Amino acid sequence: MNIDRAKANRDLLAFYSEAGVDIALRDEPNDWLSAEEPAPAAAPEPAPAQRSPAPRSPAPVRAVSASILPSAPVPPPPDAAVMTAREAARSAASLDELRTILDGFDGCALKNGASRLVFADGTPGSRLMLVGEAPGAEEDRQGLPFVGKSGQLLDRMLAAIGLDRSKVYIANIVPWRPPGNRTPTPVETQICLPFVQRQIELCDPDVLVTIGQPSTGALLNVQGIMKNRGRWFSYQTGTREIRAMPMLHPAYLLRSPIGKRLAWRDLLAIKKALG
Ligand code: URA
Repeated sequence: MNIDRAKANRDLLAFYSEAGVDIALRDEPNDWLSAEEPAPAAAPEPAPAQRSPAPRSPAPVRAVSASILPSAPVPPPPDAAVMTAREAARSAASLDELRTILDGFDGCALKNGASRLVFADGTPGSRLMLVGEAPGAEEDRQGLPFVGKSGQLLDRMLAAIGLDRSKVYIANIVPWRPPGNRTPTPVETQICLPFVQRQIELCDPDVLVTIGQPSTGALLNVQGIMKNRGRWFSYQTGTREIRAMPMLHPAYLLRSPIGKRLAWRDLLAIKKALG
């Protein structure tokens, strides 16, 4: 392979990765433009003694369905998954137990494309809990929420009001990285929601901050982050009512630094609420 071809292949892989194609299902690509009807996938090879001598023409193949991949259990239908998630989350008596249960939960398809569970960072029992949207590439690599570029900005925002990760608890609405960093679908969110709700109940913070619209919509049931950021809402943890505030997502602030003055105002309000 000459250098240009190697580079072209690397660029193609990078493109696939950015587009969210991060699982290889077949050694050979499928020619979807071929006029021939694709043959059924993955018929087992006959044993050598039974092999027919006639040459087999290479047939285009279908993508492998999740059901024949040993490492990708087929998730149950969404309603069943939500019910199972609710029961599983309710059964956790501690955050450690919740993490173990979530790690073994196969009801959300996001798990199949992620490298690992991204459960939480910080100190359980902190007075301030922040909930973001979903892990990105760096979070998926390290198994910790908010450790990429937006996480570094979040750290600076917390430092501005005298906080760091040892004084807060951080989680996400979905604990597995969505392919290509896309927004979690409503079904994925509904399936994972009972776990994060239980996580909030077990962490038992005094103040909850929802970071960005997906987290705000899922936990506070309000739409429109721009009009709702900086406003106080009440949140029922299951054992008590606490204060909750939507905040602009640091990824948004990196793209639109002008929003930082609004975020600063919100941070001061959070500091005041914590006394
Ligand atoms: N964005 C999020 O919402 N959560 C993370 O953990 C990282 C980036």
